Amino acid sequence: MPVTAETRLRAGIVNADRPALARVLASVGVFRPDELDVALEVIDAGLAPGADHYRFAVAEQAGVVVGYVVWGRTPCTDAVYDLYWIAVDKAAQGGGVGRRLLKACVDDVRARGGRLLIIETEGTVAYDDTRRFYFAVGCDEVARIPDFYRPGADKVVYRLQL
Ligand SMILES: CC(C)(COP(=O)(O)OP(=O)(O)OC[C@H]1O[C@@H](n2cnc3c(N)ncnc32)[C@H](O)[C@@H]1OP(=O)(O)O)[C@@H](O)C(=O)NCCC(=O)NCCS
Repeated sequence: MPVTAETRLRAGIVNADRPALARVLASVGVFRPDELDVALEVIDAGLAPGADHYRFAVAEQAGVVVGYVVWGRTPCTDAVYDLYWIAVDKAAQGGGVGRRLLKACVDDVRARGGRLLIIETEGTVAYDDTRRFYFAVGCDEVARIPDFYRPGADKVVYRLQL
């Protein structure tokens, strides 16, 4: 799907985004039920009154939510941030939405004086496309923990130098 002028990004999430983000997460087809639960917990933490750790950007096309990214400062570091989750609706993938979401995250982290963005993902076949995405957008693979998630499922750590 080509990127069109209809793709709009906005900062932050509102309660009405929760079902839309749940739909996006379900559509991508790679997340296991326990991963979906954690992704929704992060969304709920971001929606909680007074929450200020989790920072979100949401992508919409024609008023419909098609993706989001969430990140936050890593505790006990001077200026490192973690990208916790990024997802683009299956039907909208490959059209530049993910790249724009990552840029929104990077721009925000830079504006806050961040120097590194850390991203973790799985080393399994199911995440081959995801790792291609991280490579394409300039992330460096800096660590790999064999059998981290379960036997045969490594944790792969990427670093984006800001
Ligand atoms: C990973 C994801 C966020 C990327 O979003 P996207 O909108 O599909 O990505 P984009 O269209 O912006 O692609 C950006 C770049 O990544 C590359 N890329 C994206 N998907 C790719 C794929 N399947 N194969 C090869 N390269 C790919 C493209 O080449 C593109 O580079 P280009 O702009 O130079 O052409 C999205 O595919 C997704 O939601 N995946 C499932 C959820 C997931 O795994 N999230 C991460 C959890 S750790």
